[in-house]
Amino acid sequence: MCGIVGYIGNRDSQSILVEGLKKLEYRGYDSAGVAIVTGTGLAVKKAKGRLAELESRLHSEPLAGTVGIGHTRWATHGKPSDANSHPHTDTTSKFSVVHNGIIENYAELRRELAAKGHVFVSETDTEVVSHLIADLYQGDIVKAVSEATRHIRGAFALAILTEHEPDKLVAVRQSSPLIIGVGDGENFIGSDIPAILQHTRNVYILDDHEMAVLTRSGVELMTIEGNFIAKQLSTVDWDLAAAEKNGFDHFMLKEMHEQPQAYRDTLSGRMGEHGIVSLDELGMTDEAIAAIRAIHIVGCGTAYHAGLAGKGALEKLAGLPVETDLASEYRYREPLVMPGTLLIAVSQSGETADTLAAVREAKRRGALILAITNVVGSSLTREADHTLFTWAGPEIAVASTKAYTTQLLAFYMLAIHLAEKRGVGERGRLAELSRELQQLPDKVERVVAGSAAVQTMARRIAQAQSLFFIGRGPDYAVAMEGSLKLKEISYIQSEAYAAGELKHGTLALIEQDVPVVALATQPALLEKTASNVKEVKARGAYVYGLVMEGHEALEDTFDEVLTLPATDPLLAPAISVVPLQLLAYYTAVERGNDVDKPRNLAKSVTVE
Ligand code: F6R
Repeated sequence: MCGIVGYIGNRDSQSILVEGLKKLEYRGYDSAGVAIVTGTGLAVKKAKGRLAELESRLHSEPLAGTVGIGHTRWATHGKPSDANSHPHTDTTSKFSVVHNGIIENYAELRRELAAKGHVFVSETDTEVVSHLIADLYQGDIVKAVSEATRHIRGAFALAILTEHEPDKLVAVRQSSPLIIGVGDGENFIGSDIPAILQHTRNVYILDDHEMAVLTRSGVELMTIEGNFIAKQLSTVDWDLAAAEKNGFDHFMLKEMHEQPQAYRDTLSGRMGEHGIVSLDELGMTDEAIAAIRAIHIVGCGTAYHAGLAGKGALEKLAGLPVETDLASEYRYREPLVMPGTLLIAVSQSGETADTLAAVREAKRRGALILAITNVVGSSLTREADHTLFTWAGPEIAVASTKAYTTQLLAFYMLAIHLAEKRGVGERGRLAELSRELQQLPDKVERVVAGSAAVQTMARRIAQAQSLFFIGRGPDYAVAMEGSLKLKEISYIQSEAYAAGELKHGTLALIEQDVPVVALATQPALLEKTASNVKEVKARGAYVYGLVMEGHEALEDTFDEVLTLPATDPLLAPAISVVPLQLLAYYTAVERGNDVDKPRNLAKSVTVE
């Protein structure tokens, strides 16, 4: 997730690029940069940190020119630094490229290009693209870009500028968003509409496998192979404030809708031979994996809840004993870290103080540390021995959604990888789960698209004084997350209970019309959960059930039912939590709350 912009026209490009980047800073803020064709050739300025850093450099040494590209970075390959910032150039500094996405085969391309004499200066995947285009260039930048796309694998939205053809910008898209703004005597590139909205409302939305060539006087659209195409020019009617949220009312809603893409990005490039997930990127040797005897998982809040679901998958697949702790408790409970203990620290931000403190305690006691995080270069990645990144992109809303669901995916992939490497579990089963993982993005897309039923449910729940979420096994882990989400943004008292535990005390709180959300996605536990639902209904509760397709027979058990796309029960949390996120959101909206900034809370809690 990064933001890219481009401008070609007759105005000063520096200020237009910087203003465009400001509107895209929500897409990443690890570093920023611009490349502009000046009177003396292609010039690049970039800076680690927020855009303000780049702005101050450009203020003291401005770049004058009317054609340029810019980038705001969410680090993936390589930590945030000046060198890893975009735009990237080739060895001759004549070609510059900005990129959003991941080039999966960059290491292989880098080796090939280095052997031909190309000199690389960054750790990024993107840098290979500028070198590759330079290598293929024979006097026609459009042809060189088209040819380059045949060599690269992965997701990319690219904007390319060369000093050799200074009156042209090329943009190309494969799996990462890209739009072209059409002006009068000037044209624009943006990852997203906000970047260009103050200049034009006329846009082409590029589809996968499409390319655009921009000059001052026009835009030519073609396929990646260079065949011209015609496209409908769209008119954007959003106002500027809505535009940053991509037309959504809140960042939380936008981030929930981004989940299918976040799933695809997190799964991308992580499928090994024999159709089984492989995480060799972790750099854990087979010996180190074989030496694991126990796993401890730590995290806070939502990240802790991901750990609870992860525990089940790791125990079932990798056959290892797993303990999950709240990071704030772990440190003080004098954990027994036996030889062979792997500590998995889960944190979206990678900066949560309690989680970092737990990591240090485990390390002091001899544990090997594996981080699951969304932020490259975060403190957690520096303290961990190994890191598994979730590629959810920046999460702006305080209530975590896409970070949580991609953490679940990280756990599933890790469990499959460890099972395969340790030689436990049947290969057919691991391949089946790996295949099913690939289906999750489409299934989640269906859940998000079907949010109308959840909105109706939210209107009723918004009137409640309190409510309960219940479930067994993985459903219980999801119930905890659903309950947290609801309470943190709707401010309604809510509790999550293991369905079988209610009768040991909490049942006393059930009275007429108290809403209960019952998760029933686990075939092996359905009858038991159904009995617990009957117990609460007998005391007057109004019960909403979440079941998977194929279990509609249960419908009579509940007052209302939401049916979810069927998946392997082990992976069900990655689907069933989504309606609960939506429920929390719509309930909070119904109550008129500030959804993105709930009271008393902040993102990235750096105090213990
Ligand atoms: C709830 C939420 C928090 C965070 C927690 C840990 O929606 O976002 O509970 O999950 O503060 O934050 P990270 O994952 O950054 O360590």
